This record gives sequence, structure tokens and C-alpha cells, in this order.
Amino acid sequence: MNYIKSVGIVGTGRALPDKIVTNKDLEQKVDTTDEWIRSRTGIGSRRVADENTATSDLATEAAKKALEDAGISVDEIDTIIVATVTPDMAFPSTACIVQKNLGADRAFAFDIGAACSGFVYALSVAENLIKGNMAKNALVIGAETLSKIINWEDRNTCVLFGDGAGAVVVKEVEEGYGIQGITLGSNGAKGEVLRQPAGGSRIPASIESVQNKLHFIAMDGNEVFKFAVRVMGQSSLETIKKSGLDLEDVDFFIPHQANIRIIDAAAKRLKLPKEKVYVNLHKYGNLSAASIPVALDEAVKEGKLQKGDNMVLVAFGGGLTWGSAVVKWSKEV
Ligand code: ACO
Repeated sequence: MNYIKSVGIVGTGRALPDKIVTNKDLEQKVDTTDEWIRSRTGIGSRRVADENTATSDLATEAAKKALEDAGISVDEIDTIIVATVTPDMAFPSTACIVQKNLGADRAFAFDIGAACSGFVYALSVAENLIKGNMAKNALVIGAETLSKIINWEDRNTCVLFGDGAGAVVVKEVEEGYGIQGITLGSNGAKGEVLRQPAGGSRIPASIESVQNKLHFIAMDGNEVFKFAVRVMGQSSLETIKKSGLDLEDVDFFIPHQANIRIIDAAAKRLKLPKEKVYVNLHKYGNLSAASIPVALDEAVKEGKLQKGDNMVLVAFGGGLTWGSAVVKWSKEV
């Protein structure tokens, strides 16, 4: 008989730059107000990396903390996956740079690009590498320095994003615990509503591309908003069902932290009371692929999760992409 492993998260860590940029600070840069940003998004401040800090630096720091939390040595890591849309450079991958920084010589390493859904995508890949006996101990990292691709003169986008990294160690866990189900989805036909137009092979970097500000995030906020509200609820429901659970079985909900109105709408659709929903976007803004692992690490360290709790992680992002996971928490507290 084929034995199917249970795979789960056994350690978490996060890294956030020290510098805090408040809404009041942004009032000095663009035509906006603290009141507008808070009421439309729920965001109060965000962290911003200095000019010497790249995505791999935050990713490495978060990874070290996750390894320590898991009680696993660097030599035991055989897979490193970094989800990011702000890699240090096109190649080598940020995951390979993290491998070098950690000295994780036994690992294979690669990046995943699924924007804000990247962490859930990476978790799914790690789960299946382990179930398929390709890997035993995986580091899954969501890391971003979005401040580097934001137009700080554009009030439509600069108020929304922040920098940070979250990491988890994924491995086989006690039978019946860990990842119960994952759903992933994409709609490339709608990709235009959220993108970084230049810097790749379609519009390579040039003086003109920089002058035309094409290396910054471009977004149709309203379209993204409508898509997000629909897909967060739908995807969560699909994965809850796939996991053999009902809505009442959900103990904790960690949504992608983009906008409090999107989170509230999803929680309402899932009939989840506020105390089951984790929110930290008031402190960090939208951390893209780092959003869920940073929130997860905070929730764990705040003692919000008990062994056996069913947790839903759900994200949406550029691509367009979305993904959700149900995880039965396997760690003793
Ligand atoms: N301060 C003041 N006014 C602003 C600001 C600001 N920072 N930003 C936009 N406005 C103005 C707009 O210019 C517009 O003015 P106009 O009517 O004169 O043109 C007005 O506010 C209203 O704009 P709306 O777009 O209707 O505002 P809305 O309530 O929809 O909120 C927001 C905008 C916050 C962007 C919302 O649509 C949203 O959160 N969308 C989702 C964005 C998102 O999650 N993106 C990340 C995806 S993740 C990834 O993959 C990177």
C-alpha cells in the first residue's frame, strides 16, 4: 500500500526593516491624508528597507529564525523556495543567494513568481516535493522589497505596500496534521490590471523605460479590489470543502494583507468572527508574497494557534493569481 505522508509547517520566522514610514510621513510626499489611507485600506504605516538591503537579506534573516524555531540545522535543508516579485536580480535566483548566505550546500534552490499568491504556491510545491520523496526538509520563504519598485510620487500605489520577509520550514509531520488541502488558480487574461511593465524582455531596461516610469508597479486598484473580494471567499470555500471540513471547523484565518475592506468582505462571506481573523496590515501594509508568512509567524509567536487548530491561508495577486491552503497546526505550544 502506498503511504501518503502528512506534510506541515514546523517552524516560522520573519524579518522586517527597522525604518517605519507612517501615513503622516507620506502626507509630506504626495497629495494624501492619514484619514484617507486608513479608511480606504486600514494601513497606518509600513516598513521600508534601506538602500543596502535587498530581498535576499530579509529572506536570509527570516530563514535563520525559522530554522532555529524548527530546531533544524542548515545541513538538513534540501530545498529552498523563495516566492518574490522583487528578486535581487533576474538571476541568480534569490533562493540561490539565500542558499549561499545560509551555507545550505545540500539544497536545491529556486524562485517562484506568483506575486502576492507566491507563498501559497511555494507551500504547495514544497508539500508535493516532500510527498514525492524529492525532498525532506524545505525552506519556504516569501520575501519582498516592494519599496524598490514603487513610484513614491504616485499616491495610488505608494501608500499600499511595504517590505519584509517571512519563512517557514516544511517537513513530514504527525499523521493527519499539516496541510489538508491547497487550491491554486490563475487568470492570465486579466494580468494587465496589476504589473511591472518594464525591466524584462518585453520592455528591456532603457533610458526611455526609466523616464516613462515603467519599472514601477502599475495597478487598476478597483479591478484588483473586485477580483480580490470574489476570489478570497471562493478559493477558501473550495479548499475547506476539499479538506473535508465545514466552515464551523475553521479555527483561524490568515488572509493576504492588502486591504482591510477586502479582508472584512472575505471574513463575512466565510461567517468568521473577528477574533478568528488575523490582521497586521495596519503595521506593514501589503507585503505581497511575504504577507502570509509574516502574519503566520506573528500569530504563532503571539500564541494564537493551538495544536490541532484548522487554519486557512488565502491570497490573491498579480498574474492574476490566487491560492488557499488549509493547515491543521501540528506544533505543540
Ligand atoms: N490619497 C488620497 N486619494 C487617493 C489616494 C490616496 N493615497 N489614492 C487614490 N486616491 C483617489 C483616487 O485618485 C480617486 O480620485 P478621483 O475620484 O478624483 O479619481 C479616489 O481616491 C477614489 O479612488 P478609488 O479607486 O475609487 O478608491 P478605492 O476606495 O477603490 O480605494 C484602493 C483604492 C485602496 C487602491 C483599492 O481599490 C484597493 O485596495 N484595491 C486593491 C489593491 C491591491 O490589493 N493591490 C495589490 C494586489 S497584490 C500584488 O500582487 C502586488
